[in-house]
Amino acid sequence: MNEWLIYRGTGQPHEGIDRLPAPPPWRNFDGHPVVSAPAPIDTASTRRLGLQQDLAEQYRPRPTELELVNAALYLRRPLLVTGEPGCGKSTLAHAVAHELGLGRVLRWPIVSRTVLRDGLYQYDALARLQDLQLARTAQPEQCIGPGSQETSPGDGIGRYIRLGPLGTALLPAARPRVLLVDELDKSDIDLPNDLLNALEEGEFAIPELERIADRHPEVEVQDDDGGRVTVRGGRIRCRAFPFVVLTSNGERDFPAPLLRRCIHLRLDTPDEDRLAAMVRAHFGPEAAERNRAIIQQFLDRRPGEQRSADQLLNAIYLTQQAGEEDVGTRERLADELMQPLNRVR
Ligand SMILES: Nc1ncnc2c1ncn2[C@@H]1O[C@H](COP(=O)(O)OP(=O)(O)OP(=O)(O)O)[C@@H](O)[C@H]1O
Ligand SMILES: [Mg+2]
Repeated sequence: MNEWLIYRGTGQPHEGIDRLPAPPPWRNFDGHPVVSAPAPIDTASTRRLGLQQDLAEQYRPRPTELELVNAALYLRRPLLVTGEPGCGKSTLAHAVAHELGLGRVLRWPIVSRTVLRDGLYQYDALARLQDLQLARTAQPEQCIGPGSQETSPGDGIGRYIRLGPLGTALLPAARPRVLLVDELDKSDIDLPNDLLNALEEGEFAIPELERIADRHPEVEVQDDDGGRVTVRGGRIRCRAFPFVVLTSNGERDFPAPLLRRCIHLRLDTPDEDRLAAMVRAHFGPEAAERNRAIIQQFLDRRPGEQRSADQLLNAIYLTQQAGEEDVGTRERLADELMQPLNRVR
């Protein structure tokens, strides 16, 4: 095993992340106070990876995949993962989080309306106003008039602020969090650059807290995991730079500045061996042999037809329920579930 590889793609959790050398000086961040780490293993990741089976059956990444994941970890750069639907782009973030014990993957699904602020934090000003009005109606003498304990604008504001997945990934943590920015190619034209700028700086401001920082230097807000974290001076700056996976189905070209600041990994469409490994990971050691015909059916595609590994896994699960003997039903079900994705209208 090559010693420099922190992520080895074995599916076996280990403490290798503690061997990750200091970042290059231009990617060194010093945020504080350090927040506590999430539970190292998360069931959302084990479910996706099919890790209930024997580890020997796991899907193994290719050397290029391993090297580029490790390059992103060492250089503290986002990893842009492209490839056809269902080739394993999103699952890669889970594989890294699971093996390196980095906890729950912070997932940020992108749609055309998504803006940077959605990923950083949300401030529910309306709920806060309603709560203040309710409190005033309930106890008017305590809120208004001379000698009253009128609530200052900063009181309780933290209860109405919730960090998004990107905001949480940038909290000052001792170990990197894993952030999956899923389907970035669906975004509006400005988001990739805005995101890259935020990741370049490794920090962001919450103006609602910055404004009151002289009177309320520390405010507790909610993070994306549902826990409470302290924000100092209305700014959040990372410490261990998160492992960021940006995925794209290649529906559009990205701007050059984005490509320059990312490590780019192109995942190939899984071949027979890799599909068999996925099937073994999810259904057990004998499953690939038993389902050889369905795997072949999945692979028999005309040029340009797209299918996703999810379809194969669904088809295998369902045909198992339909019984071993009834080959006709099995074939028909598999065919119905594995329709080419780019022909569904
Ligand atoms: N390393 C792996 N081990 C086990 N199963 C895997 C692995 N990678 C992918 N799979 C299986 O393949 C399926 C498709 O993978 P995934 O959702 O990551 O693809 P994707 O490239 O993100 O697809 P899309 O572009 O549609 O979002 C997953 O449901 C997962 O169960
Ligand atoms: Mg995906």
